[in-house]
Amino acid sequence: MIGADFDLFDRALAGERCWMRAADGTRLRLPTGRWLGLAGAGECRADHALIRCCDGPTVDLGCGPGRLVAALLRRGVLALGIDISPTAVAISRFRGAPALRRDLFGPLPGAGRWSYAILADGNIGIGGDPQRILARTAELLTPDGVAIVEFGPPGAGSVTRRVRLESRSHVGSWFSWASVGIDHAEQLAHATGFRVLNTAGVGGRHIAWLLRADDTMKVNAR
Ligand SMILES: C[S@@+](CC[C@H](N)C(=O)[O-])C[C@H]1O[C@@H](n2cnc3c(N)ncnc32)[C@H](O)[C@@H]1O
Repeated sequence: MIGADFDLFDRALAGERCWMRAADGTRLRLPTGRWLGLAGAGECRADHALIRCCDGPTVDLGCGPGRLVAALLRRGVLALGIDISPTAVAISRFRGAPALRRDLFGPLPGAGRWSYAILADGNIGIGGDPQRILARTAELLTPDGVAIVEFGPPGAGSVTRRVRLESRSHVGSWFSWASVGIDHAEQLAHATGFRVLNTAGVGGRHIAWLLRADDTMKVNAR
């Protein structure tokens, strides 16, 4: 969300009704309830699926209010959230989940040493360039690390749009946001040096587990 009006994202997390407006005029709801961990059973199942395999150091990129980091810590897994929003980081820390206020494209602790990196809930779209964010994710992982990436539904295509955040009283500036359907996971993984280990649809959400393509040992071990 580089270039976005983070003030509006912070307002949304603080409870103000905000939405994302695309350049063609369409309005998309911001699922703040899900980000805050207030959503229903389907969402819980999807969250559980996202972190189920994490048994080593895990970084959640664009962690929002930190519900996945908190769940990992409860299981005894070392985890860290990264988010550029001060409100997201404050809520995350408040619930006991460590988080750093950083741009995920900038310097981060543990680069090259994370066993798992999570891009949940549309974060493959951050910056409007899915190849760039996956390449960045690869830099953060160990050579046999796994990227856990949430995609859009099949048929959603691979689209980058100009969007902005709005509320009744505020309008943010335009920024680029991408959405990628799960049926594009293989192609995107291939283009960024990953291979798809597995995919799953859980509670209406779509997750792919991506392994660095050159790490055949880990593929064979699974
Ligand atoms: C769609 S929300 C997803 C939140 C979280 N993953 C979840 O599932 O609750 C996107 C998050 O990414 C963060 N973000 C956007 N651009 C970022 C960047 N360049 N670096 C770090 N965080 C970023 C936003 O602040 C926001 O919290």
